[in-house]
Amino acid sequence: MRLMDRRHFLETCSAHAACAPTGLSASACSSAARGIASLASLASLSTHALAADALPKNYGRVLLTDERGDPLKARSLKPQVNYIFHYPFEATPVFLLDLGKAVPALKKDTLRTEAGDAYAWPGGVGKARSLVAFSAICAHQLVYPTQQLSFISFRKGKPVQAKTPDAGADLIHCCADHSQYDPAQGAKVMSGPAKQPLCAVLLDHNAKDDTLTAYATLGGELFDAFFKKYEAKLSIEVGSKARQAVAQRSVVKELERYCKNPVKC
Ligand code: FES
Repeated sequence: MRLMDRRHFLETCSAHAACAPTGLSASACSSAARGIASLASLASLSTHALAADALPKNYGRVLLTDERGDPLKARSLKPQVNYIFHYPFEATPVFLLDLGKAVPALKKDTLRTEAGDAYAWPGGVGKARSLVAFSAICAHQLVYPTQQLSFISFRKGKPVQAKTPDAGADLIHCCADHSQYDPAQGAKVMSGPAKQPLCAVLLDHNAKDDTLTAYATLGGELFDAFFKKYEAKLSIEVGSKARQAVAQRSVVKELERYCKNPVKC
């Protein structure tokens, strides 16, 4: 049986089976079968289209606070200084940066996950649209900043050990294998072995009280791989709450205060 005949046969059979108890005529049933098939086909197309886009993944809304536990004022952030908070899980660190300049949104297709899913990125928030946040888990082999050691961080200016004279400035640099990400372009990969941008963390800025709330991620999440790779380490560092969702508030610290040994390379 040719493919189309076979498909028609299966559609008709399933519609007849469904219609028999209703008493519909054979032609009404065939017509219903075609309608059902069209709807199924549209649904499948629509599912496929969605799969090709990386959409924001909403987690709980988490207010960013200073180290005293008071709501962090966006204006208190120093430009081009590396801050850390945790979101969406207790053990998953995020870079928070005031890039000191307006950061425009990027249209869809500028950024893609390793799986090829395209996404638009909303750019900076805050009064000057200069505030951005990205997961601090390197998209190459999941290196991340801990309280003891950090191989990945934002570098104001050029990296200390820039491999080429035209190495980019003001990038997030991972010293493990020298992946570089541009936080002004949605953490797009500028060089190195990483295959996708750092996952973005979306922020809401409340202009009235100048506070920041994290509410979603966007892009290639690596949390499952991260928890799998570091399960034993995280259970010692963070304990049983490592994979617990951050509840309501997350403390923002300068990387230099959060980590004892921020490695520069
Ligand atoms: S783990 Fe970051 S570049 Fe390899």
